[in-house]
Amino acid sequence: MKTVYVLNGPNLNLLGTREPAIYGAATLADVRTLCEQACKRHGLELVFHQSNHEGALVDWIHEAGQLHAQGQLAGLVFNAAAYTHTSVALLDAVKGTGVPLVELHISNVHARESFRHHSYLSAAARAVMCGFGVAGYGLAIDAVAQW
Ligand code: DQA
Repeated sequence: MKTVYVLNGPNLNLLGTREPAIYGAATLADVRTLCEQACKRHGLELVFHQSNHEGALVDWIHEAGQLHAQGQLAGLVFNAAAYTHTSVALLDAVKGTGVPLVELHISNVHARESFRHHSYLSAAARAVMCGFGVAGYGLAIDAVAQW
């Protein structure tokens, strides 16, 4: 059974109460449940994490990279949140491990402030999705299951 990593960056622990007009009412626990259901549909194992710390996210990408090297990783679904727009370290971790990446955003970042229009991760992503709300996580896992 292959594994899907779903990683979430800073402030996503606040989902449900954080700017609900933009991010909706679902909590991170709801997102995890949604991911569990999607993985169950496809017979995939789920590893799900959130951190406000860049280095923790780098470490988990390395962990996913080890599974990838063993042919055990279906893909990495990654909402790097604000680090998307700032982090060379996360880009290097994805490039260095070669993990198949879906870059995901709950909101449509292109309809928001211009500083959200640039992503360091997109260059290393196999797919990029935004604007589907938290439903995007399930859609991303549906796609990864076909890889
Ligand atoms: C986000 C968009 C980012 O610009 C923002 O910093 C986030 C969440 C999203 O899911 O829409 O924290 O990645």
